[in-house]
This record gives sequence, C-alpha cells and structure tokens, in this order.
Amino acid sequence: MQRLTRILGLAQIYQLYQWMVGAHKYSRLFAERYIQYQVGQKILDIGCGPADILKYLPKDVDYTGIDLSEDYIINARKAHPHQRFICANVAETLPLDKELFDTVFFIGVQHHLTDVEMEATLRFAWSKVKSGGRLLSLEPVRLPGQGRLERWFMDNDRGKFIRTAEHYRHVSEKVQKGGSQTILKNTMNIPFTIIISESIKA
Ligand SMILES: C[S@@+](CC[C@H](N)C(=O)[O-])C[C@H]1O[C@@H](n2cnc3c(N)ncnc32)[C@H](O)[C@@H]1O
Repeated sequence: MQRLTRILGLAQIYQLYQWMVGAHKYSRLFAERYIQYQVGQKILDIGCGPADILKYLPKDVDYTGIDLSEDYIINARKAHPHQRFICANVAETLPLDKELFDTVFFIGVQHHLTDVEMEATLRFAWSKVKSGGRLLSLEPVRLPGQGRLERWFMDNDRGKFIRTAEHYRHVSEKVQKGGSQTILKNTMNIPFTIIISESIKA
C-alpha cells in the first residue's frame, strides 16, 4: 500500500488511477453543477494536482491552480500552457498577494490535512474569496452504515483524514460560519460517498 501511495505522487499514474476509479465523473459534476463558470469570473483551485478539472471548464476560463507538488504542477503546466499555476504550500505561505476570486475551491484536498492544516488552508481560501463570491469543496465523507468495501477504500486512501460531515463542518466553522453541505452517493466507479460544501461571502 505504501508503494501505491508513493507512485500516485507521479502525476500520470495519479491521473490513470483517478480515471479508473471514476473520479472524472465527480469532477465533471462539480464543474457543471457547482462551479458553473461564467465569462469574466476568476477561479482559484487550491490543491489543483494535475488540474484535470480544466477538462470540464471552458477553454477561456480565468483559472489559477496552486499545489505543493512540483511534479503535479509541471504536468499541469504542460497540459494547460495558457493557465496560471503556482507551486506553494498554502498552509504555510500566502501566495497571490491581494488578488481576489469569484470562486475558490478544493477538490479532494482537505482529507489529506490535519485539522490544524485544514483550518490554515481554509483561512487562506476564504481570504481569497471576493464579496459575493463562493468557497466550494468536494471531499470523501464517512457516514454511519457504509459497507465494508467503501470503508476499505476510505481506510486505505492516501488521505488519512476522511471525516464525518459534522467534523468537516466543525473545522470549517473555525474560519467562517454557515454554508451548506450536500452528500452525494454513487458518483464514482467504486463505492465512495462525497460531500460538497458551499459558502457564500457576504
Ligand atoms: C487528492 S489530490 C487532488 C488533486 C486535484 N484537486 C484533483 O481533483 O485531482 C490532493 C492535492 O492537494 C495537494 N495539497 C495538499 N496539501 C496542500 C497544501 N497545503 N498546499 C497546496 N496543495 C496541497 C496535494 O499535493 C495534491 O495534489
């Protein structure tokens, strides 16, 4: 399992694995139903990985992706040379100065982070949302009654902090109160329930 974790650090292996488990299905759903990009908007993807979400967004999207993995960022730049990518750890540094965005989002990032790191990345993300803009996240979630196979996938995920909906909310409320949570089942080729959180900045 440790070996699999290591090779998933390589962008192309990660992309192949994501395609096999059907992660592209929830990425498409997230882009179409939640990001709902409109011309003129600026969007920020924190923990963008190889930036596969760009496959489901318009070609002329105003997009910035940040990730701490150099390999993922190198691959993202190769695949999407006209988009902006920054290699940084947003729990420790604060890139982008005073720039603000209409939509800031995380896809599958927070379950890799401790509560302290999750709070720090959320604080950074929320500071980058303009007034009237939105913060979105998509994460795997633990629910009572999940089957053995689903629990196996979650227990063996590279992200060691797959939380309950209440736990995600508890950490995010340290940064900002309110927002909605939606639980979605059967969005992948494997049993893996996801939760989408959405907050709008006043
Ligand atoms: C499971 S991957 C998801 C990648 C991408 N969002 C996707 O949907 O394919 C989690 C990503 O979060 C990145 N990440 C984790 N902590 C981070 C941090 N503090 N700052 C920037 N990126 C981070 C990892 O390098 C990794 O690429």
